[in-house]
Amino acid sequence: MTDLKPREKGQHSWPVHAFNTQSNDLASFRIAFNRQAERLGIYEIVLGNNDAGNISLYQSANQDADVPHILIAAGFHGEEAAGCWGMLEFLCRCSPDLFDNVAVSFLPLVNLSGLSRGQRLNQWGENPNRGFTADSSEMPSREGEILLRHAELLKNATGQGVLCCHEDILRDQAYVYSFERNTGPGPFSTGLCEVLSHYFPLSEHEKIDGCDCEQGLIFNHFDLSFESWLFTLGADVAACSETPGLQPFAQRIEANCSVMCTFISAILERNRTKAGIS
Ligand code: NI
Repeated sequence: MTDLKPREKGQHSWPVHAFNTQSNDLASFRIAFNRQAERLGIYEIVLGNNDAGNISLYQSANQDADVPHILIAAGFHGEEAAGCWGMLEFLCRCSPDLFDNVAVSFLPLVNLSGLSRGQRLNQWGENPNRGFTADSSEMPSREGEILLRHAELLKNATGQGVLCCHEDILRDQAYVYSFERNTGPGPFSTGLCEVLSHYFPLSEHEKIDGCDCEQGLIFNHFDLSFESWLFTLGADVAACSETPGLQPFAQRIEANCSVMCTFISAILERNRTKAGIS
């Protein structure tokens, strides 16, 4: 447990050269994110707010279309900022044509107080990625309560899959938690490990937070997290990617952006395969 201390107590920020700022500068992040959202015709839904500001979901305008619905989330833990900046990078490179084929919801910033401090937990010392299941032994955080109030909206946004972009700031190797309705990992899970392996070594064979990680993958580990909850609510697949915080920030942004692209490709491929079979 001693090695949790730097993760829980430390303050972490990194330079974001492309925007000439630091990773905990949420004001600059929001301005840049909103500019891209406007370009892509993505609209903002304010889910709730607390002392630290608004927690918003951004949705492509085609939510009523008969296409796969997916959610990409980041910023649950305040010292894991490359997921958020990777999502911004993804939007910067995104063409509006993407939304011909898939309805995407984005949840870029959840733990606002933690992110602005570069600190894992929120300002009240709560973990925003816990307490999502009804029989949970851990109470939801203030952010979690806001998300839980929108369970129906989030469930509808997540029918074909959810990706949550996290980081493990104590490591120099990457790994993925994935969820599939199979006894073993399919191309969805292995594809996410594969893309991360282009950027970082993978955690090959070890215990991570009590879970068995094999070749960068922790498979169908149900816990009290947001992604585990949405999978239980009915998402076809779910994943939580973990980029290594000991590696350069710019590389982690790139990796997160690529993970998002790979995630969407995998969802579209699954959909094509399903359509071919039926
Ligand atoms: Ni995390």
